[in-house]
Amino acid sequence: MERTYLMVKPDGVQRGLIGEIVGRFERKGLKLVGAKLLNVPLETAELHYAEHRGKDFYDPLLTFITSGPVFAMVWEGDHAVELARLMIGKTNALEAAPGTIRSDFAIHTRFNLIHGSDSAASAEREIGIWFKPEELVSYEKSIDSWI
Ligand code: PPS
Repeated sequence: MERTYLMVKPDGVQRGLIGEIVGRFERKGLKLVGAKLLNVPLETAELHYAEHRGKDFYDPLLTFITSGPVFAMVWEGDHAVELARLMIGKTNALEAAPGTIRSDFAIHTRFNLIHGSDSAASAEREIGIWFKPEELVSYEKSIDSWI
């Protein structure tokens, strides 16, 4: 069982796509174990995107991610990291496969709606940045054995 960190970015919140995005992961069969809407403190954004410091898109990315509320989530399930990345699609919406979130709803790279951890190690790090352990919920669902 694996956990991944997903975040509807400010453009997704502003465009009213939280429900659409959450619904896709629910219907896939992943389990939501943590969620919250928040304005992102600059320090949190810097920690989250630390690996991109110095790149040309780093400053615009920080400005964007701190520009309005994000919807932070933790989802659980077998292969959760890889599955979520597949469902999100490539960074550039022009290259995202049809049926992915970015292909269906985004046009640009900066305003690409959602972040998803790119590995199990990143997921663990990012979950630790955005959530306290007590904000995550472990629970059984009666349909678990059907997925
Ligand atoms: S890299 O260098 O390949 O690791 O970068 P990439 O995975 O493509 O992108 C890392 C995150 O930066 C965002 N990004 C941008 N934001 C603003 N403007 C521009 N031009 C830009 N290019 C990339 C991209 O959406 C990734 O954010 P997350 O939240 O991780 O999806």
